[in-house]
Amino acid sequence: MTEKPIILGIETSCDETAVSLIQDTENSVPKILSNVVSSQFDVHKEFGGVVPELAARSHVEKINLIADKAIKESGVSLDKISAVAATVGPGLIICLSVGLNFAKALSSSLKIPFIGINHLEGHALSPKLQQHIDYPYLLLLISGGHSQYLIVNGLGNYNRIGTTIDDALGEAFDKTAKLLGIEFPGGPKIEIFAKKGDPKRFKLPKPIINKGGCNLSFAGLKTAILKITNEIKTDQDRFDLAASFQKTIEEILYLKTKIAFYEFQKVSGEIKKKFVVAGGVAANKGIRDKLSQVSRENNFEVIYPDVKLCGDNAAMIAMVGLEKFKINQFDKLDLQATPRLPLDINAKFLKGAGVKL
Ligand code: KG4
Ligand code: ZN
Repeated sequence: MTEKPIILGIETSCDETAVSLIQDTENSVPKILSNVVSSQFDVHKEFGGVVPELAARSHVEKINLIADKAIKESGVSLDKISAVAATVGPGLIICLSVGLNFAKALSSSLKIPFIGINHLEGHALSPKLQQHIDYPYLLLLISGGHSQYLIVNGLGNYNRIGTTIDDALGEAFDKTAKLLGIEFPGGPKIEIFAKKGDPKRFKLPKPIINKGGCNLSFAGLKTAILKITNEIKTDQDRFDLAASFQKTIEEILYLKTKIAFYEFQKVSGEIKKKFVVAGGVAANKGIRDKLSQVSRENNFEVIYPDVKLCGDNAAMIAMVGLEKFKINQFDKLDLQATPRLPLDINAKFLKGAGVKL
């Protein structure tokens, strides 16, 4: 039996330095041999957000160590690696370049193919590390930089049916956390605060809820929360505001997902109805429960990646790398990092004042 391909994946698009090795299998999903993720929370904590120069410097300091660790943990010798895949965009150019240059050097010294990966495609295919999913499927991608409904028709073949016209959902969580005085990165802690609060206490807006199809908008929520924070005095007030925010987001996603289901069926017909929810915010338990409910009600099978595969990681990058490796889709070593890299290249740019929905 010939040995199955092994892909080394690298992710440095923002504030996680990550390296992973995965191997294809005979009949099942690829095997994750190692998946090392090093976050930079401490580097950015005092600034309340990611500082690009500090992030890039931290990637430079760590990439060697993290790659070493991932290779050792996988038990794979260098000569067994079939290809190296690294995130090429979207993201911070100076951060992307670190992982990309490391990958190119590795590819060149080991004389193996180099493959540039769209970070968003990593999130989109991340559940394929756990189960086989036939195309097409509906995807809700909710991360720190993106919030989109997409029809995934196949590798590199996406049809965006909805997107945020302003803030991404992760950004809304992070900004709300900041207004509540929660230390960076605050997004994941909103849920913990919310559990102790009254979700009915504050009435928050649901922007564009009755128009714009399954497009999304979260900026108005931030403004409403900013106004309320002036009245916030006690911890209980903060818990109540977190709970009200969490509930509002759940309700927005419930309603918009119903529309996305309709749009998906209009385009894809009555094939198997599968709904994947991916990206950092997909780790949110309350959102999962609400999306499971709307999926049940509409006969969609909902699929979530493991929580450790929701946030940025390199196993998802290696996963896309493996799919591309199988069809010999390699890149040249002059491939450049790209800050903006949409999955659906034909989708209209829908951000900023004056957007027509
Ligand atoms: O996918 P990701 O790791 O990075 C990007 O590609 O952006 O997503 C990070 C985002 C952050 O905004 C973070 O606050 C949010 O995901 N996030 C959460 C939770 N865990 C991570 N938001 C809400 N609830 C969570 N449990
Ligand atoms: Zn991401």
